[in-house]
Amino acid sequence: MILYFDELDSTNAYCMREARKLDDRTLVVARAQSAGRGRRGRSWHSPARQNFYGSLLLKPPFGKARIEHLPQIAGLAVLDAVLDFDLQSAWLKWPNDVYVGTKKLAGILAECSVQGPGDEALVVGIGVNLNMGLDDFDRIDRPATSVRYETGRDVDLEPFAESLRAALLTWYDLAQDDPDELHRHWVESSPLIGKEVEIAATTDTYTGIVRAIEKDGAIVIELPDGRQERFHNGDVSLNAAP
Ligand code: BTN
Repeated sequence: MILYFDELDSTNAYCMREARKLDDRTLVVARAQSAGRGRRGRSWHSPARQNFYGSLLLKPPFGKARIEHLPQIAGLAVLDAVLDFDLQSAWLKWPNDVYVGTKKLAGILAECSVQGPGDEALVVGIGVNLNMGLDDFDRIDRPATSVRYETGRDVDLEPFAESLRAALLTWYDLAQDDPDELHRHWVESSPLIGKEVEIAATTDTYTGIVRAIEKDGAIVIELPDGRQERFHNGDVSLNAAP
């Protein structure tokens, strides 16, 4: 089921508040967000009727809640949904972003709501820049792009939401049945292995070569002294598109 709202504070916040009442696999979509949330405490620019802002609520069977799969599921689903608009050059930038070239097209925020034992819900929030243009890009603190800017095609919200939800559920089912296969697709779509990156981790920034992206979502970076460090979170930057 897809629920549409003209405006919410944040589709993630709504799903977390209403987790008990919402059915498994409900996609909550807002045409605007007054308090869109990004990763690492950032806000998410959410101008009205320009973009996709939505969150999928999942209630996996007890013990099957794997939050680390959500960015993989959502990233791959966004790639599928934008392919419908012939946007083939999108790629997944670890851990949670979808880029075209050196510009961000979509962001993903996974959260977990635990109300009690056996009563847990996962929420994966996705913001995809659909029709936003240069005026709005200027209001974002890092380079951004949109499907329309890249392809010249207007995107209607409702068909986009339907195709994104279908892709999300396909990848979610694969995550339950064959997580190794999900991981294989995610790594294939994340062309970072072998590249030099800078990673702003929780406290420090490191530079090194990406050696692996592991099943639990960690990235392995070889530092200049040869040591390999694993990171579960952080912002990766590259000098050029991969
Ligand atoms: C990021 O890249 O920082 C993650 C951005 C996630 C934004 C989406 S928009 C829909 C959902 N609701 C929110 O408040 N955030 C996510």
